[in-house]
Amino acid sequence: MKKILLRKEYIYEGNLILINKKYNLKDKIKSYNLKPVNDEYANILLDYNCSLALNNILQEINSKKEIILLDGYRSLKKQQKLWNNSLKENGEEFTKKYIAYPNCSEHQAGLAVDLGLNNENIDFIKPKFPHNGICQEFREKAIKYGFIQRYIKEKEHITKIADEEWHFRYVGYPHSEIIYKMGFCLEEYIEYLRNFKFGKDCLMFKNYEVSYIKMDENIKEIIIEDDELATISGDNINGIIITKFKKIKK
Ligand code: DAL
Ligand code: ZN
Repeated sequence: MKKILLRKEYIYEGNLILINKKYNLKDKIKSYNLKPVNDEYANILLDYNCSLALNNILQEINSKKEIILLDGYRSLKKQQKLWNNSLKENGEEFTKKYIAYPNCSEHQAGLAVDLGLNNENIDFIKPKFPHNGICQEFREKAIKYGFIQRYIKEKEHITKIADEEWHFRYVGYPHSEIIYKMGFCLEEYIEYLRNFKFGKDCLMFKNYEVSYIKMDENIKEIIIEDDELATISGDNINGIIITKFKKIKK
């Protein structure tokens, strides 16, 4: 049995943090664990687990040079520059649709990657990543490796960002598959998880149990049994999400 002490900072860390115009990145969290994607893309950094998962997909689909990595982690300075340049070149309406406001981008946490189909004249703001061929193969595998297509047309009214077929967000497994199967966007999923209060109820999916703790509920620690593995992530609002995996007894 293992005890995990819950700290307030955990609200703002982890794969499931919701980052958008309403829930900004918190300045005090500076300890992202970033890793270059691979030797070929040594200049593109991503969150450690996100980076490993991306490499696994690329190897599995044997994408070689057909898919290119365009962007991963961005500093606040880089996001600000992108925003300012786009405002100048493309105007406010376009910029609000395709560039997250500084401190509201998932790229700043290293949890988002932009991919493009390798061809001439790549548009770095709106690269092509079509729903067929190798890109579609990537898209389908991505779910098993913990990624979601974060901004889709049907959810534009919630995310406030336009359809971005090239932008993938790492949330970790099984969340990627649950989100996909339930047709949620991340905003909806985080809201939905609030129904599963730790110790009372949980969302069951395969061998996983997902539940939520609001950090003002006086739960100071959680216990993980020997036959369980657990990960925790903040929601970047006021709670944390516990994902338990039950080991199957032999
Ligand atoms: N293009 C996405 C919304 C970003 O800038 O994070
Ligand atoms: Zn992106």
